[in-house]
Amino acid sequence: PTGGQDRAAPGGAPDDAGPSARTTVTVIIPTFNEAGNVEELLTRLAAALPAHLDCAALFVDDSTDDTPAAIERAALTCPFPVNVIHREVATGGLSGAVVEGLKAAASEWIVVMDADLQHPPSLMPELVETGRRAGADLVVASRYAGGGSHAGLSGRYRVAVSRASTLVTKGLFPSALRGISDPMSGFFAIRRSTVHANTDILKPLGYKILLELAIRCRPRAVAEVPFSFQERYAGESKSTVREGMRFLAHLVSLRTATPVARMVVFGLIGLTGFLPNLGALAALTATGLHYLPAEILANQFGVLWNFLFIDLLLFRDRRGHRHWADRLGRFALLANADLVLRIPLIALLVDGMGMAVLPATAVALLTTFVIRFVATELLVYLP
Ligand code: GDD
Ligand code: MN
Repeated sequence: PTGGQDRAAPGGAPDDAGPSARTTVTVIIPTFNEAGNVEELLTRLAAALPAHLDCAALFVDDSTDDTPAAIERAALTCPFPVNVIHREVATGGLSGAVVEGLKAAASEWIVVMDADLQHPPSLMPELVETGRRAGADLVVASRYAGGGSHAGLSGRYRVAVSRASTLVTKGLFPSALRGISDPMSGFFAIRRSTVHANTDILKPLGYKILLELAIRCRPRAVAEVPFSFQERYAGESKSTVREGMRFLAHLVSLRTATPVARMVVFGLIGLTGFLPNLGALAALTATGLHYLPAEILANQFGVLWNFLFIDLLLFRDRRGHRHWADRLGRFALLANADLVLRIPLIALLVDGMGMAVLPATAVALLTTFVIRFVATELLVYLP
């Protein structure tokens, strides 16, 4: 209702403009069936809003329930502007929704928070204030900073998973995540300039939007504010086991932005393929089968195993328009062409040089690996 309010000058007020200067902030709230939460959220946000913050809420909604109507109703009594982007296709899930909101925001600061009140709205102004005062580009509300807690994370299992995945993630990206104790947090403030310089390189996937922004946008300075993760106000968490798989794929995608990094991961996946391949080979030769047909059969186990990891993790965002069966067919064809080349090599090593079957197979697998990587990038997935 107050959409005609005066806005700060384009580009926003400088950080040292003093307490009387107004700061613009867009609060992006992704929603998927949160009808029971949005009114309470807006009420608490409004109650927490200091005079110098010029705030607007932007819901990015993928709901199938009456959340849009609930937002409209709540907006009528809300003292600041409330906007909604309703998406017909929920591309990228939670992160995809947030990125749509980031692109649409025009304020100097952007705060991202959940709709379910697990993120205390009273902390929203402090995130922006901390960023202004510290001259930071990113301010993370952290459960793991001193004074923070994850009281609302239900169950020992979820807490352990959260801790472990945080450790692994920080280990994978030590420099980009320096100074961020809670890279999995979904509650943070970021300068629009930091995001808008990088929107074209964002590849949102799954739940961890902060991870995406911290790694791909490289904010110059980061600050943290401890917070205590609350219980959900209404409704249920939308997080699923499938989300865990997406998280792994997201980590791999973030870690394999360069071809060299992709080849290393391709190799690591290939290495794990030794297990089903050699296992099947041992089982088949134990039945008395000659090692050459056993090689061919055993190879199919390795191929399928590798395809699953490569298709679901490494090349997940390069799958393009090809049907999965087409990709599997091409992948299997390449792998078996590879085997055709490998067989004479293995035969040479075994029959000509007296090498044992298993080490000869290992050597041959390694030598053909680079060719296979390049062919997979060019012929199965999108370059
Ligand atoms: N637009 C849109 N589309 N919103 C979504 C979608 C989607 O596909 N999926 C979830 N959301 C919204 C929910 O409606 C909610 O407002 C917010 O995203 C978080 O979803 P929850 O289902 O409540 O997630 P959570 O509590 O399990 O996870 C939260 O805490 C994690 C830390 O434990 C999130 O903030 C995560 O980002 C965070 O890592
Ligand atoms: Mn939640």
